[in-house]
Amino acid sequence: MINLSEIQTFEHDVLVIGAGGAGLRAAIACSAHGLTTAVLSKSLLGKAHTVMAEGGCAAALGNVDPRDNWKIHFRDTMRGGKFLNQWRMAELHAQQAPDRVRELEEWGAVFDRTKDGLINQRNFGGHRYPRLAHVGDRTGLEMIRSLQDHGVHQGIDFYMECKALGLLKDGDRVAGAVGLWRETGRFAIFRARAVILATGGGGRAWSVTSNSWEYSGDGLAMAYNAGAELMDMEFTQFHPTGMVWPPSVRGILVTEGVRGEGGILLNNKNERFMYNYIPDRFAAETADTIPEADRWLAGDDSARRPPELLTRDVVARAILAEVKAGRGSPHGGAFLDIANRRDAEAIKRKLPSMYHQFKELAEVDITAEAMEVGPTLHYFMGGVRVEADSQETTVPGLFACGECAAGLHGANRLGGNSLSDLLVFGKLAGDGAADYVQRLDATPALDAAQVEALMRGATDILNREFGTNPYLIQEDLQQVMQEFVGIIRTAGDLAQGLKELERLKQQAAEVKAHGASQYNPGWHQALDVSSLLITSEAVARAALLREESRGAHTRLDFEGEREEWGTVNVIVSKGPDDMVARTEERPPPPEALAAIAYATLEELEG
Ligand code: FUM
Repeated sequence: MINLSEIQTFEHDVLVIGAGGAGLRAAIACSAHGLTTAVLSKSLLGKAHTVMAEGGCAAALGNVDPRDNWKIHFRDTMRGGKFLNQWRMAELHAQQAPDRVRELEEWGAVFDRTKDGLINQRNFGGHRYPRLAHVGDRTGLEMIRSLQDHGVHQGIDFYMECKALGLLKDGDRVAGAVGLWRETGRFAIFRARAVILATGGGGRAWSVTSNSWEYSGDGLAMAYNAGAELMDMEFTQFHPTGMVWPPSVRGILVTEGVRGEGGILLNNKNERFMYNYIPDRFAAETADTIPEADRWLAGDDSARRPPELLTRDVVARAILAEVKAGRGSPHGGAFLDIANRRDAEAIKRKLPSMYHQFKELAEVDITAEAMEVGPTLHYFMGGVRVEADSQETTVPGLFACGECAAGLHGANRLGGNSLSDLLVFGKLAGDGAADYVQRLDATPALDAAQVEALMRGATDILNREFGTNPYLIQEDLQQVMQEFVGIIRTAGDLAQGLKELERLKQQAAEVKAHGASQYNPGWHQALDVSSLLITSEAVARAALLREESRGAHTRLDFEGEREEWGTVNVIVSKGPDDMVARTEERPPPPEALAAIAYATLEELEG
């Protein structure tokens, strides 16, 4: 048995794993409660997926259109999520987002302004009114900068480039985590009374993704291994507009802000094809002629919004259908045109990152020509199951927030709701953890056997003589998920995907990283692969179980929403031998909230 006193050990009231917006906001809340707080990140500060929410943060401030209010934001979120959202989370989110945005402004975030000097708001898909507080097309970056600055001055301890290998428990409750320093290859123990997971999703399991290397589902895998439940994992969001050319940049995000600023989608016949894909649910609010859409863009309140601003699931499937019908762009996407809609100066002012991104990476001048875009895996609606108000998981002392947690977005997330999600639920997770810690009678005990098992699991990868290269497993996994667990799914494909995952799990059990423990990216890749495999299996199993099409989950063999599936969530957990996916009946919605969700706009605006 190892001697625990020989291992570097840190002790805090709360350990937050993940340094994106959710983790930072949670840590700020813990620290504000007077708790000693640590943030652990396998990467560097500022590198989180938060920066990939470029176009804005949704909050019903009503600055641009005073008819907006939390009830309409709540209604939009529920409709976008196809009513599978956790009602209470959607309520808390819509109610609290405005305060969280204003608070961030007090902490130094420099939002774009209206002519009257208020925080400016732009249109986004599925949002009834201009609702996205933004900073050009760099909103996530500005938010994370402001949270970092504020957090650093709160006295939070930051541990960078240290990967969490797994959670420690004392009986049922969480006791901390074991970390591995990327630079030295040495281990560290982080003892904590509560742990908050804020590690985002697992987009790196797909080959076409907007996610950077960090997004390997670590928090999902750690929670699963610790006995927590995952929920709604079948709902993975394909953002309709990622870059498609050149191949080296395929998947990089093209913000929905382009469409929010008036950009339109065209096929290779120069047709605005989105008019052919308006679902019944949104027909009443969507313009079905170009003149009406243009009137809306010109600011006519009585006109209905253009179909390019339908929800992401609808737009992504429409692009795919055009490509399949032979009407795609040369490299398998659609054209996104802002050049003919806005003057060059306005494009550069409102979409500066997009201008530079296309100029530098694709040699395309978006003020003069159309972009080529196609769907890219962007976001997990599913995640760790949490209680709405506290964000506590089913493991005592373990909390989750942001993309890592399930519930707010249901079957499909509206753009811009991720940034408000991480602010609202980051804070609530911090408050929840603080409440838990304050009620705890003793610091959880350390179990040397658990520490040793986590360390040995990692060092085995270096020590074994032979084994598969982790990069090959990762590449193989990305092909498998892209092909068998993509936008359009069937039972046959999903079953085949699960079979392939089984094969990859066997390879991963014998993975070998060459070289020493210091600065060894292959070793870290192998560790990420193990999280990705758990995450991918959870997605595939949940997707196979849900026999309907709803939001981001499209089954070719079960078209359309089925009533019986509207009342259940799919829950994934660790069984005695294997992963288990089951359905669980949802409690009926509170009457008052159901009345808002199903009300007409006129009733709510009044
Ligand atoms: O398109 C975007 O700017 C992404 C925003 C989001 O995912 O919320």
